[in-house]
Amino acid sequence: MSFDASRSAYDRYMGRYSNQLAAAFLSFVGGEPGQRALDVGCGPGALTEVLATGLGGEHVAAADPSESFVVACSARVPEADVRRVAAADLPWDDMTFDLVVSQLVLNFLPDAEAGAAEMLRVTRPGGTIAACTWDYADGMTMLRTFWDAARDIDAGATDEARTMRFTTERELAELWESAGLTDVRTRSLEVSTTYVDFDDYWQPFLLGIGPGGAYATSLDVERLAQLRAACFERLGRPGDSFTLAARAVAVSGQRAG
Ligand SMILES: C[S@@+](CC[C@H](N)C(=O)[O-])C[C@H]1O[C@@H](n2cnc3c(N)ncnc32)[C@H](O)[C@@H]1O
Repeated sequence: MSFDASRSAYDRYMGRYSNQLAAAFLSFVGGEPGQRALDVGCGPGALTEVLATGLGGEHVAAADPSESFVVACSARVPEADVRRVAAADLPWDDMTFDLVVSQLVLNFLPDAEAGAAEMLRVTRPGGTIAACTWDYADGMTMLRTFWDAARDIDAGATDEARTMRFTTERELAELWESAGLTDVRTRSLEVSTTYVDFDDYWQPFLLGIGPGGAYATSLDVERLAQLRAACFERLGRPGDSFTLAARAVAVSGQRAG
């Protein structure tokens, strides 16, 4: 699956949600000016930017294995320390950060338990570690519609609600508790975006970003036309602008002091 995209391409697809989600997520997590924070799986920097606004850009670090996203995040938040690395291999010393956060990333990690342990390692005792992921089964309408439509035309289509782990508050809490975090709490976070028309929804899938984009771009012309028609039907044949809601689930916990 591809996360090799420009910021503008990503924003047409997912960033239009993650920009809003970053603000809601950080208000759940907390954070104060002067604290040091790390954004794991930063993408083009939606959450990094919100962290920099709240804490000061020079107090913020970010990590992502995608070269294009690291370039985009560095351009977006020039004062931040942005590195091209995976979550399991963070290059910062033990106990460097007051706050370690990760938005829409946990379910893409090859080993989420190892990723959580690495996030814990770089957090100071008493510091906060938090993550959020989409509720793929029910609350993320853009992707739910797409995968339901995909299964209308192809019973074997992958569906992120079936393939992704850590998509419920319970699963996230269990991961955090088994990593040894204390004061674990969860919340659901609601955001939405408005599409100017159906093509504003559909065209970004053709950019090949993430599992949805990878699936769409794997289809031949005929199947792709069927998928487009099925999405159009499931969205109620929109004639002009429409708004879709998206629900994420979030978890936060403390590293024991
Ligand atoms: C859905 S995007 C979320 C990006 C950004 N956090 C946001 O909210 O828009 C998933 C991100 O996870 C990153 N990712 C994939 N595998 C990763 C890994 N092993 N370690 C860290 N990040 C990873 C991708 O490069 C991509 O930027």
